[in-house]
Amino acid sequence: MTIKILAFSGSTRSGSVNQKLLDIAAEGAAHAGAQVVSIRLSDYALPIYDGDLESQTGLSDNARALQQMLRDSDALLIASPEYNGGYSALLKNTLDWMSRPGKDGTAGQTHFAGKPVAVVSASPGPLGGARAQISLRHVLGRLGMLPIPQEIALGHANDAFDGNNRLKDDKTDALVRGVGAALAKAAQKLAS
Ligand SMILES: Cc1cc2nc3c(=O)[nH]c(=O)nc-3n(C[C@H](O)[C@H](O)[C@H](O)COP(=O)(O)O)c2cc1C
Repeated sequence: MTIKILAFSGSTRSGSVNQKLLDIAAEGAAHAGAQVVSIRLSDYALPIYDGDLESQTGLSDNARALQQMLRDSDALLIASPEYNGGYSALLKNTLDWMSRPGKDGTAGQTHFAGKPVAVVSASPGPLGGARAQISLRHVLGRLGMLPIPQEIALGHANDAFDGNNRLKDDKTDALVRGVGAALAKAAQKLAS
């Protein structure tokens, strides 16, 4: 069975170091045999979650599309920037909308539950977004996901990539690819 991984970053900024990191981790997962669907959250814009809005209009097409992609996936690969010690509001808002019940009334959380997830982060600072990962992992766990232990918090990320968005350091490159590969293997194990 081919494992399907949905990959997205909590930064939609052009030149985002998290997107670059995510792309390399995704390559590691693909190399390990997974089929990776890498999306940009800017293509799935959502309003800030509001219960009144949800009551009035229900889930938007973008929220439904994200839910469908989650349903179709065996695992998630997520990159997040660190903003003031936490993960990005874009990521939280996206997860919140995805967790809401769909048209058939099935709790959105159902589609997260039991699936492995890998988290990576990058920052120009020395800690590489490690603090953001703690709160993100907590929330993913609350959604019933299974965060895998393999992780990378890439510090000094503004100097880590070359002009082709490749990591300059081979050891770091292998570590990042290893996170993607570990996710693919964890999902494969759960599926078998
Ligand atoms: C509002 C804000 C808060 C930030 N707080 C942190 C922080 O707590 N820790 C950190 O390492 N970097 C912090 N940064 C710097 C980001 O890590 C940096 O902008 C990074 O490039 C964002 O990721 P991206 O390149 O993927 O967009 C902050 C940036 C912004 C805009």
